[in-house]
Amino acid sequence: MHSTDLDISDYYDSQTFSRIKAYADTLETPCLVVDTSTVLRQLDDLMAGFPYAKVYYAVKANPAPEILTLLRDRGCNFDIASRYELDKVLALGVSPDRISFGNTIKKAKDIRYFYEQGIRMFATDSEADLRNLAQAAPGSKVYVRILTEGIATADWPLSRKFGCQSDMAMDLVILARDLGLDPYGISFHVGSQQRDIGAWDAAIGKVAYIFERLRDEDGINLRMINMGGGFPANYITKTNELSTYASEITRFLREDFGDDLPEIILEPGRSLISNAGVLVSEVVLISRKGRTALNRWVYTDIGKFGGLIETMDEAIKFPIYTDKTGETEEVILAGPTCDSADILYENYKYSLPLNLAAGDRLYWLSAGAYTTTYSAIEFNGFPPLKAYYL
Ligand SMILES: Cc1ncc(COP(=O)(O)O)c(C=O)c1O
Repeated sequence: MHSTDLDISDYYDSQTFSRIKAYADTLETPCLVVDTSTVLRQLDDLMAGFPYAKVYYAVKANPAPEILTLLRDRGCNFDIASRYELDKVLALGVSPDRISFGNTIKKAKDIRYFYEQGIRMFATDSEADLRNLAQAAPGSKVYVRILTEGIATADWPLSRKFGCQSDMAMDLVILARDLGLDPYGISFHVGSQQRDIGAWDAAIGKVAYIFERLRDEDGINLRMINMGGGFPANYITKTNELSTYASEITRFLREDFGDDLPEIILEPGRSLISNAGVLVSEVVLISRKGRTALNRWVYTDIGKFGGLIETMDEAIKFPIYTDKTGETEEVILAGPTCDSADILYENYKYSLPLNLAAGDRLYWLSAGAYTTTYSAIEFNGFPPLKAYYL
């Protein structure tokens, strides 16, 4: 990947990028600048692709009030991971019937807190959690998360830690009914930045089987499928267009459920926010480790602990732009902290111009999601990543 070959128009229209860049010129680095109109466009595209679905924004992707307010006013619902996210969303006047507690790992006292705030929709994937729900949130709608395939093709996999096998999911649905809860549906998440659309096919097939078995053998009519996130943002590793995801996934749904679809929920995070944000950093130092060393090390003032944790295992490869042009050379990119884990890309080689120098800016494109919230409070004394919303 030659930075100088990077075509900004693959990621932003020139007006949007100029606007973000001009604003960033007035700011200290590192900082994130988010163009909120891009968020709305992403939302519109998603809703056009899935006109039959309800959108629950995964707040964890970027919980800035500017984003939450925008999505609130567009009628979005919210997928919440903790009581702290819940407080943020409720404080903006979102009514509890637009909120779902999507984390399967939760304390009984937090379930109670959600229930007291009026939340009546909960994810689960274990018997212990389900029993807590029956006690602390009686009568609520519950949906059971299943394990799915697709770990190898998701850039940021999520299954394994969350979800259960289909047989256990069916046991949990039956138990939910027996405990007086409302067995509402099945959820899955095929992994974030899932590049294989077929992962939804396999997951929807599992869900169809569960729906049918429970209806035929236990008289339980599930009403909802929560298809999670996993929709693509624009990074270096290419994906299909969102419209292709939408048409293919819709086809999978129709194949298994015909025209009479259950209620469909989507929980996008990354795909709504990433493309809207540009993270701006500055080169701190450039060095070589030996006279004949082939690669330069480029240290920037943002690293793993400043918000780029998704460079772990070089999972997410952000497109990087610099104003400098000319001959390029492969570099190793690292962050500013005194921790040797703070190396961003060493195996995957970015090529940056030979004339790049300390003080030059690097623009990390498509960095609006999962950056501000991952940034450490004070590691090595560095402050958390600052963000600005245009
Ligand atoms: C339960 C749940 N829903 C939705 C999402 C958002 O996924 P994505 O960012 O891939 O859209 C996540 C991400 O961690 C999640 O855990």
